[in-house]
Amino acid sequence: MGILLDSLRRGKKRFAHLCLDQSAAKTAQELVVFVTRQDFWKKRAAWNASKIREAAQDNPNDLSKGGLQYYEKLMPLLYRNDIFGFFTLIRKSICFFMGLKKPFMRFGGKSDQRVTVHKSCALAAQTFMLSIAAEGFESCPMEGFDKNRVRKALSLPHGAEINMIIAVGKGTEEGIWGPRFRVPYDEVVFKK
Ligand SMILES: Cc1cc2nc3c(=O)[nH]c(=O)nc-3n(C[C@H](O)[C@H](O)[C@H](O)COP(=O)(O)O)c2cc1C
Repeated sequence: MGILLDSLRRGKKRFAHLCLDQSAAKTAQELVVFVTRQDFWKKRAAWNASKIREAAQDNPNDLSKGGLQYYEKLMPLLYRNDIFGFFTLIRKSICFFMGLKKPFMRFGGKSDQRVTVHKSCALAAQTFMLSIAAEGFESCPMEGFDKNRVRKALSLPHGAEINMIIAVGKGTEEGIWGPRFRVPYDEVVFKK
């Protein structure tokens, strides 16, 4: 047990080093790495579709049909890629022509796909931060880390991307940069 704890401690120290030895990382009790898995899109779409089928059983309604349409037809169109960018071209063309006369979701290339999965992951990260705050802990979301080395340390597969690392703990003075400032409300919230 002692050896395990010691190696865990040393592991955390090494990991804090990959987070550029930031105080928040060095003083944290835990470092939680949030990872996107865009490479799982087919599996996730199939899982969702199977859940909808299971719930609808033999009585599919418009809602379940719409759900199946989304996971079985729309998601492959949105997330499939090829080395020539053929699917991107199809998506961009559809968005362009369909968007000429009425509002249409603009979703074209790989950057749109990455932005979407990172948004979802960041929402999960924010939910995590709020939950642990409710339990009386502090957290610090970090972008300051060596993503190549963290990838290697965690043996992440090619399709995975690190969204952010969150330092978690009881909160110490050393882990805080300084006083908090807020950009004036009127500069960030607008009414139109
Ligand atoms: C995407 C992202 C990356 C961040 N990276 C770091 C970081 O590397 N190190 C750090 O100390 N804080 C980092 N922060 C935390 C910000 O410093 C922090 O959110 C900001 O100071 C506001 O904190 P407050 O809400 O506690 O005032 C990051 C925040 C975000 C949203």
